[in-house]
Amino acid sequence: MANILCIGAGHVGGPTMAVIAKNCPQHRVVVVDVDAARVAAWQSDRLPIYEPGLDEIIHCTRGKNLFFSTEINRHIAEADIIFVSVNTPTKSFGQGAGKAADLQYWELAARQILENATTPKIVVEKSTVPVRTAEAMECILNSESGNGLHFDVVSNPEFMAEGTAIRDLEEPDRVLIGGPETPSGQKAVQAIVDIHARWVPRERIITTNLWSGELSKLAANAFLAQRISSINAISALCERTEADVNEVAHAVGLDGRIGPRFLRASVGFGGSCFKKDILNLVYLCEYYGLYEVATYWEQVVAMNEYQQQRFVSNMVYAMFNTVAHKRIALFGAAFKANTSDTRESPALVVCRALLDERADVVITDPYALENARFDLGEMAGQVTFEPDPYAAARDAHAIAILTEWSHFVDLDYAAIYESMVKPAFIFDGRNLLDRARLHEIGFNVYAIGKPPLTHFATTAPIR
Ligand code: UDX
Ligand code: ADP
Repeated sequence: MANILCIGAGHVGGPTMAVIAKNCPQHRVVVVDVDAARVAAWQSDRLPIYEPGLDEIIHCTRGKNLFFSTEINRHIAEADIIFVSVNTPTKSFGQGAGKAADLQYWELAARQILENATTPKIVVEKSTVPVRTAEAMECILNSESGNGLHFDVVSNPEFMAEGTAIRDLEEPDRVLIGGPETPSGQKAVQAIVDIHARWVPRERIITTNLWSGELSKLAANAFLAQRISSINAISALCERTEADVNEVAHAVGLDGRIGPRFLRASVGFGGSCFKKDILNLVYLCEYYGLYEVATYWEQVVAMNEYQQQRFVSNMVYAMFNTVAHKRIALFGAAFKANTSDTRESPALVVCRALLDERADVVITDPYALENARFDLGEMAGQVTFEPDPYAAARDAHAIAILTEWSHFVDLDYAAIYESMVKPAFIFDGRNLLDRARLHEIGFNVYAIGKPPLTHFATTAPIR
């Protein structure tokens, strides 16, 4: 039996530890956080994050071998293995501002471990960190201010995606554990392998050196984001040429070397990882003098920003070059379906841009309105938050589909059309809805990467 601790009860720490606790009933798992309200939410019936399947797992493990607490120091002292899953946002100040990872929370956690440890520990990097962070952590942990205890630092990056976190954790494509090649480093790696081997087939658990472990996570996210920027770049060309981006993606994806997944054109990627991790990669490349490599990856983010801005320009252009004082209903605030997370959500980018155009914006979302209000900050005062999509669309000039929630598919769009100002527009940023059917109802339909379907005598090509 081991005492496992996770520092950071966020989107990564919470679900990951819940799945470990479920599959390793012999271990005691504690998740700690500085944020008392977040810990209280994990202890309540209303968990702080929405994730399909999470409630059930928490229900059957919490209080048995899974515990949430704010008593960080005490639990550090008791732990054998410590996962560090604190936030590593993009640095907003000083050197590397806007690109580099802000490692202050990570370092703080390392120092806290050092101050409170009375036995040797394995420290596991769970948060995505720049390559060679483990080196810095080892230096801090094994510095002279420690009481002669030895700490092994291993990298175990998390590849799960929000919205499918529990499935991804239960049946991962791979589990990656990077560790030092020293005998004690390898023992630490083995301990983390053993935990995962309880439910993950052994051939899917791969071990690497520490630096490959850290870099693989950044590289994987950069590759995934690159696919989306690639198909989004093609979507712009489709809109000019009357090609259909779904047909192109299908044809391209049938090539076994490319594969069909992650080729859905959209209003852009969001989420807490992609942009942050690519900028982090860019910063690393610049740091090592690899300027061409840095520029290459930076374009993935630039294309994403172009796609979001292009979506808003298309809306304004289609609606006779002005949206001022027009009610516009945004369907979706979350950065993707099945999550309440709105960090870096393209929906909020679109929202801010429309507010700049003086539109009256109303947002509807089944789970993410609270986070949207928080993330919009001062701008939230100018927005109406409306849980009911029918009420959101009433008297609106346009609807923009920004999150691919299944909730939006089966709405009565004929009734919605009746309740809207005419001519009524739908801008589908996720290619979620049946365009032909909407057009039949009376809507002017603009979908990503597809020719517009309107009721106007001539439709000027979108810019
Ligand atoms: C991502 C990685 O997938 C995951 O492996 C890593 O651990 C964390 O970062 P996440 O950001 O939670 O996960 O969600 P993901 O499913 O990757 O979606 C990211 C964004 O890309 C979303 O805004 C989504 O809507 C968008 N997306 C995804 C597309 O626009 N098109 C696609 O084909 C796929
Ligand atoms: P992620 O999506 O990577 O899980 P989150 O921001 O959702 O990131 O979660 C990170 C959590 O880590 C937050 O709840 C934050 O309060 C917590 N945290 C940050 N630093 C510390 C620390 N030193 N000790 C405990 N918890 C911390």
